[in-house]
Amino acid sequence: MKSIDVSQIKDDNKNFVLQSWSKQKNVNSKTITKAQGVFFWDEAKNRYFDMSSQLVYLNVGHNHPKVLEEFKHIGEIPMAAPSFATASKAELAKKIIEVAPSNMSKVFFTCGGAESNDHAVKMAKMATGRYKIFSRYRSYHGATFGAGNLTGEGRRFTVEPGLPGFVKFDTPYLYREVIDFESEEAATKFYLDRLRNQMLYEGPETIAAVFMEPIPGSNGVLIPPKGYLEGVRKLCDEFGILMICDEVMTGFGRTGKMFAVDHYNFEPDMMTFAKGVTSGYAPLGGVIVSEKIASYFDDNVLMTGLTYSGHTVSTQIGNATLDVYKEEKIIENAEEIGQILAKRLDQLCQYDSVGEVRHIGLFAAVELVKDKTTGDPIISYGMDYGKDTVGLMKTFVGLLGERGFYTYSHESSVIIAPPLIISEQEINEAMDIFEKVLGIFEKEYLFTDKALISN
Ligand SMILES: Cc1ncc(COP(=O)(O)O)c(C=O)c1O
Repeated sequence: MKSIDVSQIKDDNKNFVLQSWSKQKNVNSKTITKAQGVFFWDEAKNRYFDMSSQLVYLNVGHNHPKVLEEFKHIGEIPMAAPSFATASKAELAKKIIEVAPSNMSKVFFTCGGAESNDHAVKMAKMATGRYKIFSRYRSYHGATFGAGNLTGEGRRFTVEPGLPGFVKFDTPYLYREVIDFESEEAATKFYLDRLRNQMLYEGPETIAAVFMEPIPGSNGVLIPPKGYLEGVRKLCDEFGILMICDEVMTGFGRTGKMFAVDHYNFEPDMMTFAKGVTSGYAPLGGVIVSEKIASYFDDNVLMTGLTYSGHTVSTQIGNATLDVYKEEKIIENAEEIGQILAKRLDQLCQYDSVGEVRHIGLFAAVELVKDKTTGDPIISYGMDYGKDTVGLMKTFVGLLGERGFYTYSHESSVIIAPPLIISEQEINEAMDIFEKVLGIFEKEYLFTDKALISN
């Protein structure tokens, strides 16, 4: 293998690459010099548990031999424009439909998550002849202009004033809701009544689609209250509105089932996916559409397209990845190890700095607070990108990193989403680190005068 000059890489990266979501003068990226399974190593030979699967996509782990092997066979398959039928594209679409909800029928391929959401919006407008799109606060759907308009938090602001007809409604977030509901069902009723009202006031006949992450991911793994998603489905049916689920982060096993919607009792009209379909080994995304939507496009032109739709390399890697999920029972492992993670997380609730833990499969968030009785958050909404430093949360994530637990935070929530191949011993080792860091954080930072200074 070619020897690498790490300091040259770091210098060139700093001097020539614009890094997303960052003030460039603050960029000080590590270099991954070795990676295997749930671990990677940096240039100083520090080993990290990859507890966010990079950006929640590395489901099969680093350097999976079967996926790497597939790259050696890439040359055997010719490149072809989207209008040609290719073995890898056809096979992957068929495999995806086999594991998707039973009403799903066809796949439109894109190169990533945001593009998938953009295309789902276009398809919904074409299929319904309506123009309004509902999506939620506390959601992230991507950074392109269309997906940015769907996004319901600060990462949307650079695309504002935005597109007319994009309407936002609230995501149930019971931990931070001002109303103290007597049950999950009561909360569901409240949020659904509000949504129905909003649909009425916007004019249901103008609304093409309701767009939602079934479990908002980067906004803190917000698990919906009982019956909520099924209730949204009913409202959509009442008014002839399409329901589109963004499974970019949750799809392909993250929650312990193939898709997050499989945990619930409803079927969406469309689903978008990306990340897990190739475990991030190649850029690929797509829109899965129901029989009803597919048949609309039998007789009407699908007025959209991408040069790389169904790209041969990416779809071939997608096929290898889906084979690995099946052959190595990766999703079953996510479900099983998810239960161990759940126990470890529930135990964290005894810490004074832990306000709430939320988990499903290997998809979890730990929400930290300054004061457990008031729930005072460590970072207020919108402050993640507002300062050069995000103070205490940056300190917490830094302490984790120093001890070999790599992840990221959003507002006051730390995301825990390891590769789905993680073993019982590995998850326990990683969570031992997390717990140790919580202790240090409370004693040396949070409940001291330093907290006041660093925030
Ligand atoms: C739920 C969700 N949708 C869409 C996206 C955007 O995907 P991409 O960055 O591939 O465009 C993300 C990215 O994290 C996501 O989490």
